Amino acid sequence: MSFDIDAVRSDFPILSRQVNGKPLVYLDSGASAQKPQVVIDAITRAYEGEYANVHRGLHFLSNLATDNYERVRGTIARFLNAPCEDEVIFTSGSTEGINLVSYAWAAPRLQAGDEIVLSVMEHHANIVPWHFLRERQGVVLKWVEPEPDGSLPPEKVLEAVGPRTKLIAVTHMSNVTGTVVDVAAIARGTDVPVMVDGSQAAVHMPVDVAALGCDFYCITGHKLYGPSGSGAIWIKADRQAEMRPFLGGGDMIRTVGRDEVTYADPPLRFEAGTPGIVNQIGLGAALEYLMGLGMQNVAQHERGLRDYARDRLRELNWLQIQGDAADKGAIFSMTMEGAHAHDISTILDKKGIAVRAGSHCAMPLMEFFGVNATARASFAMYNTQAEVDALVEGLTFCRELFA
Ligand code: ALA
Repeated sequence: MSFDIDAVRSDFPILSRQVNGKPLVYLDSGASAQKPQVVIDAITRAYEGEYANVHRGLHFLSNLATDNYERVRGTIARFLNAPCEDEVIFTSGSTEGINLVSYAWAAPRLQAGDEIVLSVMEHHANIVPWHFLRERQGVVLKWVEPEPDGSLPPEKVLEAVGPRTKLIAVTHMSNVTGTVVDVAAIARGTDVPVMVDGSQAAVHMPVDVAALGCDFYCITGHKLYGPSGSGAIWIKADRQAEMRPFLGGGDMIRTVGRDEVTYADPPLRFEAGTPGIVNQIGLGAALEYLMGLGMQNVAQHERGLRDYARDRLRELNWLQIQGDAADKGAIFSMTMEGAHAHDISTILDKKGIAVRAGSHCAMPLMEFFGVNATARASFAMYNTQAEVDALVEGLTFCRELFA
């Protein structure tokens, strides 16, 4: 099936609105993506006529909501090519997924002096949960720096692995630079479990967790064109078996007595309390939509955007692209002498162009690049070359103001 960009754009109602009197050019999908009508409809349908709590009732609506909700587990498994849908644990997003690994798998297993290898490119969500282990248990964080162009050679990660390394925590695609990390090569090169933050990668390219050979892979729904508060983490069955429960409450237990508690089998064991029922149903609709378009087609369209944007942005010799590795998604972090990232973002906004400015929850990477902030244009499948041109025109206008 070919990728019809006009049809895709017409599926996203918000893209036809104006901002500051100009057509919206939305280049902030790395922060959160817009939602197609099928997701909005799925949410409305769930609340309008198919809503009740899940796993608890014997009545019609509870069974219907449970079926609709549980079906999404299978959808996520298909989307990630997970061998078994019970390996998919629903979360509110990647932050919860990584904290789950930290509290449920790593905390009970790691001793003082054990090491976690992680890259300087990680989002804070894949840093702070490991800092907790450093602070509380004396776990050592071993940092791997990218190359100056923002690439992260797998052998550099593997060189950091020592006899006390218990986990490698790495992103599959940097949210700042778009760098794609060869996770399969890392996993092939070691027996150490590999935790992959797939928050960005899963949006832009096909993901096959079985082929990657990693142990944990988390995704977040709001970047995948689904609702905020939805997401999942795939955890290999062997690793799941090593985990203790993290959050305690309803739904994750088998029996609760005064003196003992027994737990439900995974995945429910790791899903305490009433979950984000409708959020996950919305995520299911988003993933079905993406699979209908074909992730190969999405990736191909975005490669075209990346190449075009890279050529156009490189023409601007007063603009620095921070981290511009050959293998990257269509994410560009930019700095300009004399103009703060926040100024760039504010000026672009006046032209209807939405970009994110700041440290992008990646302070160690900002430090590595020697900057305190960048203006980031993050493209998605609904963006066009004309929007790249609008960005270039907007940046040129900024340059003229600040030169
Ligand atoms: N992690 C999100 C971003 O990269 C919020 O902007």
